[in-house]
Amino acid sequence: MSLTRTKSVTALLEQASRQEGSLKRTLTAKSLVALGVGAIIGAGLFVRTAAASSEAAGPAVTMSFIVAAIGCAFAGLCYAEFAAMIPIAGSAYTYAYTTMGEFTAWVIGWALVLEYALGAATVSIAWSEYLNNLLGGIIPYQWCHSPLETSTSGVQGMFNAPALVILALLTLLLIKGTEESATVNAIIVTIKVAIVIVFILVGWKFINPANHTPFMIPATEPGHEGFFKHGFGGVLGGAGIVFFAFIGFDAVSTAAQEAKNPKRDMPIGILGSLVVCTILYILFGYVLTGVGNWKEFAVAGKEASVSYAVQHHMPGFEWLATMISFAILAGFSSVILVMLLGQSRVFYSMANDGLLPKLFSDVHPKFRTPYKCNVVLFFFVAAFAGFIPGSMAGDLTSIGTLFAFVLVCVGVMIMRKTQPKVDRPFRAPLVPVTPILGMIVCAAMIIALDTRTQLTALVWMIVGLVVYFTYSKNHSKLNPDRIA
Ligand code: ALA
Repeated sequence: MSLTRTKSVTALLEQASRQEGSLKRTLTAKSLVALGVGAIIGAGLFVRTAAASSEAAGPAVTMSFIVAAIGCAFAGLCYAEFAAMIPIAGSAYTYAYTTMGEFTAWVIGWALVLEYALGAATVSIAWSEYLNNLLGGIIPYQWCHSPLETSTSGVQGMFNAPALVILALLTLLLIKGTEESATVNAIIVTIKVAIVIVFILVGWKFINPANHTPFMIPATEPGHEGFFKHGFGGVLGGAGIVFFAFIGFDAVSTAAQEAKNPKRDMPIGILGSLVVCTILYILFGYVLTGVGNWKEFAVAGKEASVSYAVQHHMPGFEWLATMISFAILAGFSSVILVMLLGQSRVFYSMANDGLLPKLFSDVHPKFRTPYKCNVVLFFFVAAFAGFIPGSMAGDLTSIGTLFAFVLVCVGVMIMRKTQPKVDRPFRAPLVPVTPILGMIVCAAMIIALDTRTQLTALVWMIVGLVVYFTYSKNHSKLNPDRIA
């Protein structure tokens, strides 16, 4: 049955070992952790912590981080098993191709577009927000907001120019080469982590315990009537929102083909970056909701919430707000970079398999990067970054990623049954308990997201089905009657 045709692991590994025309292996375990942290800490922490707290979880956003981290950890263990076993570019898409067949692989690849391309769009929109904040709001509203947004004074957005500029710059950097990109990324990661730690340490002294009481939003709070808007349900609702902050650790797996020693380094890269970020997030969420009250983050502190908290509640540390904005801008850049890298590598793999046109897998003769893919991707991501609001892009990113995570968990279980003998340098513990729990927690977060997001994602997946059945299925390299 053509829909379930699979690529064998051996074929994949052979493909990985073919050096001619392939990507360069330059990344070490350390640079993979940096790549992961680079992708992880970004708009999710600096924008969505406050949103999750004001919309659903209150000060218990720290618990939301724990719930989201648990889902990610289970899925991360499954990712790590796959990444070490099949160390080639393409992430969850590639794993599915060997386990659940071409059709499911396509579905995952299509969902990953939501994760990486829309993730890059979301963070570039947040980048634009913080840039304007840093510049004292000099960019006219209409040039830094989507047409779907209107300011409090009635100005309608046109398109988000700064978001497009940062996307263009980072696309050029990516085309030049992964090695250079990784170096820039390592510098930015250092700055970003440093500023998170400084905020935690300085902010700790300004925590007002009254802001942490009550710890969860009470059922009686106006505007919080929905199940996922208060109490424990709100913690889960908040987890769906802050989940965005964890997206990216799996991006490490998309660079498997560029890792020097993928079997050892992929699990270190994926799980290491997840652990580092989880610890920082819980502390950060605790300090932010202790310094400012969660209700403020629905109004005055809604945009650039971290700078807001510093400026309004940490007297004497106003300088820190400027430093934070700079670091956040740099930090967001590294997230966008890794997202774009991840997306181009998924497209690269899909094109190599014939499911997408060949231009997506053409490698630059000198830079050895999929440059044509990067250019197409720029226009695609820019279309979202320029013209839709960040919250819309962010929620779609979360749902696409959660869906891919669920399928990766299923894939691990299938692979253990169908290919028990394949060498697994890293084994996820307690299978099937780990993947089943991963599926449950991630599915719960999907359910906790709003209906509009769920429906939009459904439409996206239907478009994907049309593309698969009209193009990809016929052009697949596994298709004996393939249209070349
Ligand atoms: N985790 C990334 C962020 O928070 C996507 O921006």
